[in-house]
Amino acid sequence: MLQLENLHQTFNAGQINEVKALRGIDLHLREEEFVTIIGSNGAGKSTLFNAIAGEFVPTNGRILIDGSDITGWPEYRRAALIGRVFQNPYHGTAAQMTIAENMSLAMLRRQQLGLRLGVSRPRRQKLADLLEPIGLGLEERLNDKVDLLSGGQRQAMTLLMASLSSPKLLLLDEHTAALDPATAVRILEITQSVIEEQKLTTLMITHNMQQALNFGTRTLMLHQGKVVLDIAQEERRGLTVQGLVDKFSQVKQEALMDDELLLSNE
Ligand SMILES: Nc1ncnc2c1ncn2[C@@H]1O[C@H](COP(=O)(O)OP(=O)(O)OP(=O)(O)O)[C@@H](O)[C@H]1O
Ligand SMILES: [Mg+2]
Repeated sequence: MLQLENLHQTFNAGQINEVKALRGIDLHLREEEFVTIIGSNGAGKSTLFNAIAGEFVPTNGRILIDGSDITGWPEYRRAALIGRVFQNPYHGTAAQMTIAENMSLAMLRRQQLGLRLGVSRPRRQKLADLLEPIGLGLEERLNDKVDLLSGGQRQAMTLLMASLSSPKLLLLDEHTAALDPATAVRILEITQSVIEEQKLTTLMITHNMQQALNFGTRTLMLHQGKVVLDIAQEERRGLTVQGLVDKFSQVKQEALMDDELLLSNE
């Protein structure tokens, strides 16, 4: 479904502040696969999402969705294929528009609606029906501006909006990190049910090792722009949080030793 081939991204190439954020990522995602991604700060996780979503054309490599090479596609063209939810609840909805208007816009992306923003009675009913199951009472607040909502309510909306356009791929970048623990759990439950109901192919970045193992069926670890661990099935089922943390430390230690080796050779 999603195929990444030898993906490289270097920022500020040749300058003093050059960063090799992605250093040869190869990844193949099957239809409906739900993959969690872990890795230290600066490992390249968000850059990977930005590359997939088309925020830049990668320095090297190819991105394919269902066999089509989208590497050179502009971001807006990919938006129909890709839904995203960010860490920041204020990113992803239009604060000065109402809940109904925001959701209508999301549906427009898939051309489910005519090009009108006016929210007719049948559409209001449809929106209320979509919001009701998430259990936050948002169906009663269709005319409220989004900036009146809490962070968790906004994340729930962003998630629902991302799924409304029936994306081929859902990218979740630490989307519960800014929420209180109870709300984070609720948003994760909503995430799980949206993914299952709509059979979405999903990549989810998290710093929470428990979440990384509990959700989805496969876990990747990124380090210094590379995939250093890719586990699924029995290997993953047998792994405890402590086991994952140990693997994480081991990878970092090995990288550190490589760096030291490099420095001592200079
Ligand atoms: N637009 C950019 N210009 C220059 N450098 C960038 C840019 N985007 C990311 N980087 C750099 O690329 C590296 C990887 O950053 P990235 O945001 O992908 O990390 P991350 O794995 O998402 O980390 P975190 O867990 O902190 O979110 C970092 O060194 C970062 O400073
Ligand atoms: Mg990030």
